[in-house]
Amino acid sequence: MPFHKITPPDITFFKSILEEKYVLADEENLNRCASDQTEDLHYLPEAVLQPRTTEEVSKILRHCNDNNIPVTARGAGTGLSGGALPVFGGVCLDMKRFNKILNVDKRNFQVTTEPGVITQELQEHLKAEGLFYPPDPASKGSCFIGGNVSENSGGPRAVKYGVVKDYVLNLEIVLANGEVIWTGANVLKNATGYNLTQLVVGSEGTLGIITKIVLRLIPAVKHDMLLLVPFRSAVEACAAVNAIFLAGYTPSALEFMERDALEWSMRYVQSTGIDLPADIAAHLLIEVDGNHMEELYRDAEAISQIVQQYDIGEILFADSHEQKQMLWTLRRKVGEAVKSNSTYKEEDTVVPRAELPELLKIIKDLGTEYGFRSVCYGHAGDGNLHVNIVKGDMSDEDWKTKLPLGIRKLFKEVVRMGGTLSGEHGIGLVQKEYMDIAFNEVQMGLMRQIKQVFDPKGILNPGKILMNA
Ligand code: LAC
Ligand code: ZN
Repeated sequence: MPFHKITPPDITFFKSILEEKYVLADEENLNRCASDQTEDLHYLPEAVLQPRTTEEVSKILRHCNDNNIPVTARGAGTGLSGGALPVFGGVCLDMKRFNKILNVDKRNFQVTTEPGVITQELQEHLKAEGLFYPPDPASKGSCFIGGNVSENSGGPRAVKYGVVKDYVLNLEIVLANGEVIWTGANVLKNATGYNLTQLVVGSEGTLGIITKIVLRLIPAVKHDMLLLVPFRSAVEACAAVNAIFLAGYTPSALEFMERDALEWSMRYVQSTGIDLPADIAAHLLIEVDGNHMEELYRDAEAISQIVQQYDIGEILFADSHEQKQMLWTLRRKVGEAVKSNSTYKEEDTVVPRAELPELLKIIKDLGTEYGFRSVCYGHAGDGNLHVNIVKGDMSDEDWKTKLPLGIRKLFKEVVRMGGTLSGEHGIGLVQKEYMDIAFNEVQMGLMRQIKQVFDPKGILNPGKILMNA
């Protein structure tokens, strides 16, 4: 900073690198790239560039670095913390043409892919080869794998299989000055120097632009089974989560949905598939998977015995494909359903799993204290609770001034419990003002220095993660 505006000579330069149709400055494209799925935020870029090769990205970055033009990479725009928003204008680097799966190395259980491949398409491509890439964010049908790596996304299966970082072996990235490097090696073990790969995972486009991704894979799992358990107390539902693990079971998904979350989702997708008695406060959606059906039945039976120690309604066992699809659609659509209902803010709190019941209680108490209504749902098995705060009839004034104080207090409680600000959505733009709660000045200083080393002029996705970056 200070940044320069894009000038006609810059556009001429970009057109010397990319075909003219990939240098865009029309209203429709600028608007498309001004928003992601974060609230109703809108920041216009000055130009949208659609490179196809690493070399093109390199030339663009070198030029932008030399001329102090901000560059914000964009995947599919499904992010929930504003990571893709070009808050200082400049170039939106639209990665959608990086859409090739480059190499499936079946012998070594690895895939090399470009970042603009839709996560679900990658998963289906691999499944056809008997291979499994587990991370499955709610938006898997539209998000890009590059965005997943940049945000270190999770999803329901993380509870058994881990998050994106657990699968990234190596990355090709373009540095701010245009230099191209690989961050590591395509190996399962690597004790060789600093771990640049994991530094870039989750760095939200602030340290470099990812142009190739090497992921490790596991063998495809043959079967799964799904249970929907209704609870009369939401706090008890949270307590049951840990009881399942303590009894020695690791479900392949263990999701929590408050009543409102499920009800709103049912309305949103116009589903009547689930009976929702008036006394039910929350549900757990529990999946078990494996290669032997009899084991799954045994696990499902054991888990249902565990949850029966609580005040529950009738358990729904879903074993048909259609029923499972219906339940997963309802779960995956909660975020969208809330969004369609009201102005909202989404927090992505995460605490050590056993603290989940306390977290839920605290959220509700803070709601009473600060006058907000929350709809909670998420990856209970990971201690990762999405807290959607809906504006409802809260005044604009309270929404702007009082609510941030309530959120600050919530994050302080989360950190006190040993948790942190975001489990899988990232910090991006909307959570950076709270980073001081999770990190002290020494820690923040280290982060600022890392940013400085990778991107001395601060052109890469400015305004994200760190205040004043
Ligand atoms: C989900 C997204 C919001 O779990 O992370 O639905
Ligand atoms: Zn989630």
